[in-house]
Amino acid sequence: TNIAVLVSGRGSNLQSIIDNIENGYIENANISVVISDVEDAYALERARDHGITDVFIDPSDYSNKQEFEKEILEVLKDNSTDLVLLAGYMRLVGKDLISAYRNRIINIHPALLPSFKGLHAQQQAFDYGVKVSGCTVHFVDEGMDTGPIIIQKCVPVLDNDTADDLSARILEQEHKIYPEAVKLFVEGKLKVDGRIVVHT
Ligand code: GRF
Repeated sequence: TNIAVLVSGRGSNLQSIIDNIENGYIENANISVVISDVEDAYALERARDHGITDVFIDPSDYSNKQEFEKEILEVLKDNSTDLVLLAGYMRLVGKDLISAYRNRIINIHPALLPSFKGLHAQQQAFDYGVKVSGCTVHFVDEGMDTGPIIIQKCVPVLDNDTADDLSARILEQEHKIYPEAVKLFVEGKLKVDGRIVVHT
């Protein structure tokens, strides 16, 4: 399975996928390219450190999302991409890219969907006063954080937590369930039936 990872920033989830390929937890997969819409994203450096092709695509070079994503699609095609992972990619994916990779684009979100979609999900959950939160790995559809759910993991919100404490507790679980979901996908063990994802 040839994987492409789309990033915009720090890339700790990218790192967890790289590590779990290198340590053999995920077999028969390789990351062929990491694509960023932000030139100085630390994730690109992580890719280079592991000998992975890194590509910066500047959104301001394109007149609209469709043209920008046409370029992404070119890069995906050039790298024979089978699976696209969003890992801290800060844009909504457009319909052409989604239909080209229906149920082959996966995202990780730092809350228990369908609660707290969108940006700053950990802060949203913290401010709401929930007693549990967590993270969700899901297929990407046309909506924002609305696609079929693959894995969720919950964590407690403790009495003396700050929002940062909660984010850190969630991130630790992100780094476990994202590789788990990728492994299931690569092994052909995810069957999607409408909204429902069954692990076979
Ligand atoms: C993570 O919290 C992820 O859930 C969200 O964006 C953040 C990316 O962090 N989608 P990183 O770039 O993987 O370190």
